[in-house]
Amino acid sequence: MATPLTSAPFASGVVVYCRAGFESEAAQELDAIAAQAGVAGFARTERNAGFAEFVLTQEGAPDALQRLLGWSRLTFARQSLAVIGQFKALPREDRLSPLLAALPADFRVGDVWVETPDSDAAKPLTAFCRSFNNAFVQQLRRSHQLDAASPWRLHALFPTGERCLLGLTLVDHAAPWPQGIPRLKFPRDAPSRSTLKLDEALQVLLNAGERERWFKPGMTAVDLGAAPGGWTWQLVRRGLQVTAVDNGPMNEALMASGLVAHKREDGFRYQPRQRVDWMVCDMVEQPRRVAERMAAWLAAGWCLRSVFNLKLPMKKRYAEVQQAFATMRAEVNAAGRELEIRAKQLYHDREEITVFAQTR
Ligand SMILES: C[S@@+](CC[C@H](N)C(=O)[O-])C[C@H]1O[C@@H](n2cnc3c(N)ncnc32)[C@H](O)[C@@H]1O
Repeated sequence: MATPLTSAPFASGVVVYCRAGFESEAAQELDAIAAQAGVAGFARTERNAGFAEFVLTQEGAPDALQRLLGWSRLTFARQSLAVIGQFKALPREDRLSPLLAALPADFRVGDVWVETPDSDAAKPLTAFCRSFNNAFVQQLRRSHQLDAASPWRLHALFPTGERCLLGLTLVDHAAPWPQGIPRLKFPRDAPSRSTLKLDEALQVLLNAGERERWFKPGMTAVDLGAAPGGWTWQLVRRGLQVTAVDNGPMNEALMASGLVAHKREDGFRYQPRQRVDWMVCDMVEQPRRVAERMAAWLAAGWCLRSVFNLKLPMKKRYAEVQQAFATMRAEVNAAGRELEIRAKQLYHDREEITVFAQTR
């Protein structure tokens, strides 16, 4: 990493954006990482706020900050910022000056994003954010603090009109979408809205090089629980040959592509004749059962890579996810393979997370 995150001025902690209602899971994840790194601090949440905080109580905790900011490794975080200022009651007549004063005069940023959490309470602030963002950019330009070459981006998160958390991200290590939400357009001829989930998963869980290398025409995939075919559609669009396993009917236009073989079989029993490049699974089932089946595929080497959903239980959601991953790792390790897992609660996920897994 060229620029250490720790050169963020005065960072007092971390704030992560999350789906409203999942603040506690986001906080538990931050707590767990801090505990692993031996960092003193505490997580702080408010119900349905759409974000969670980790406050560092230890001076000069550079490694901690670095780890907590690893957006791509956090399951429940859509974005993570190093907090450099907290404002509880900004004056309506001039909200900008206090924020500018929190940024050292010689510190430059490539851009500034004025955002709200993805919460009901913050929805009416969208128009304000847009105009305030313009004013912020102009002011930074005037003070010569806007520099396209800077690796930093400034974020002003407004949970209410008066309250703001000011933070920094390193552009190359942060979610590249405002609010951490990729705005994807629903493709008109896709068979179901679920299609957006796999599309988002590939944008969020893979980098550009991986998307290029791992999806080439002629590659093969199995889609477990495929009907009516939104996920299969994404694979076909990338030129893959797909075996769609589901008792339900598949979209006719998709079948006419000639790239899909439909098998009316039980997705928990289906086995491919030959190894496939991808196995994807969107069967609505208990997370443990899905995780066990995914582990069986990866341990046996029936697929190289996989993307699947894990529905979250009503209680102990964080612990349940950790348990599922531990079980998968144990099974794959027992088969003499290493398992890599990347997981995210996507914007298009509700009571679930989406997981990318591959063996090495
Ligand atoms: C959420 S839908 C999948 C939507 C699909 N990914 C799409 O994008 O259109 C879940 C599907 O899983 C299928 N399913 C559930 N249990 C299954 C099983 N044991 N074997 C095969 N399919 C199953 C259901 O029939 C249903 O079509």
